[in-house]
Amino acid sequence: MSGMLVSVPRRQRETAPPVPDSAAMLSALPVPVVLLDAANRFRHVNHAAEQFLGISAASLAQLQLEDLVPPDNPLFLLMDQVRQTEATIADHELTLESPRLHKPGIAVQCAPVPEEPGSVLLAFQDASTARALDRQLAFRSGARSVTGMAAILAHEVKNPLSGIRGAAQLLEASADPADRELCVLIREEADRIRDLVDRMEAFGDKPITRGAVNIHRVLEHVRKLAQSGFGAGVKFQEVYDPSLPPVWGNRDQLVQVALNLVKNAAEAVAAVANPEVVLATGFRHGMRIAVPGSATRVDLPLYVAVRDNGPGIPDDIRPHLFEPFVTSKASGTGLGLALVAKIVGDHGGLMEVDSRPGRTEFRLHLPVLSEREMEA
Ligand SMILES: Nc1ncnc2c1ncn2[C@@H]1O[C@H](COP(=O)(O)OP(=O)(O)OP(=O)(O)O)[C@@H](O)[C@H]1O
Ligand SMILES: [Mg+2]
Repeated sequence: MSGMLVSVPRRQRETAPPVPDSAAMLSALPVPVVLLDAANRFRHVNHAAEQFLGISAASLAQLQLEDLVPPDNPLFLLMDQVRQTEATIADHELTLESPRLHKPGIAVQCAPVPEEPGSVLLAFQDASTARALDRQLAFRSGARSVTGMAAILAHEVKNPLSGIRGAAQLLEASADPADRELCVLIREEADRIRDLVDRMEAFGDKPITRGAVNIHRVLEHVRKLAQSGFGAGVKFQEVYDPSLPPVWGNRDQLVQVALNLVKNAAEAVAAVANPEVVLATGFRHGMRIAVPGSATRVDLPLYVAVRDNGPGIPDDIRPHLFEPFVTSKASGTGLGLALVAKIVGDHGGLMEVDSRPGRTEFRLHLPVLSEREMEA
């Protein structure tokens, strides 16, 4: 079939097969669509809208929009305009916030329904996933520039550095107490630079060796590390889906990903009264990613979530969250999330972030081991 549009003569059109039931088509549409009557009662919601709102169609039939969204929400203004002008209007940065809903960054299209005076049709789009994707892609170019720098640093800094460190150590043995303190300072600072360079080296473009990785073992390992160190005062909760299949990846790198996310979470809750970090896994179809340069979509059914009850990501950090050297911490390098995004990208996965005061969640979506890969 060509993609051309051909105008069909009327007679022929009448004998064409009947159009399928429009409710069936609406319910199959993967876009949340809601029909509200003149009193903002839910007249119809499709399947995607039930999932989007987290409420069943039967319950929604008993509700008005005002039961879900406070009346000062700009959405109502938008609907008023649509009813008055009888034109379709779109808004892109709506937040649907109430005790029942938390949906930031929502795009909505609102259209009048001429056959049903006063009724409006709302089509929603959750932009947070799209934005997470954008951020990930933006990050990848950032990571590439770090890749080159990492190689240079490794060669040009590490060798002289170990010379400096060795010399300071020799001096330390023979120096008088006041000078010894300075030698210790040199040694410790040299160690700090070496650690930084070591972390940068992880950005190098080495091919990764993959295998079947049990993601729960990875998370338990990281949880133990955290509890015996940087996360000692934090209450950890593990909510795992035991039926999860293995991930096709590099265990050590996935440990690094989990470690960086858990460390950030533990640091975020450091000043909270009841510090709590939840590690969760699950299996859910529907998260897909396009493979650049092809029409293929990869399903990413496995997710790992790291959630904390800290104050949330600072507003000025948000747009640059995954870029290297972006930090709000006095002693942070800002390489943690950059590395996370690089490794997740190398694994063919995707990161999603949802953050507000009291609840921050980093969600990692990964492909699973296919049968073919398991046999190989
Ligand atoms: N769970 C979280 N809650 C609130 N803010 C966070 C969270 N995770 C990350 N951030 C913000 O993102 C910034 C970047 O995080 P990233 O892990 O890349 O670097 P860092 O933690 O500052 O330094 P490093 O990881 O090198 O020690 C942090 O400084 C912090 O502002
Ligand atoms: Mg960090």
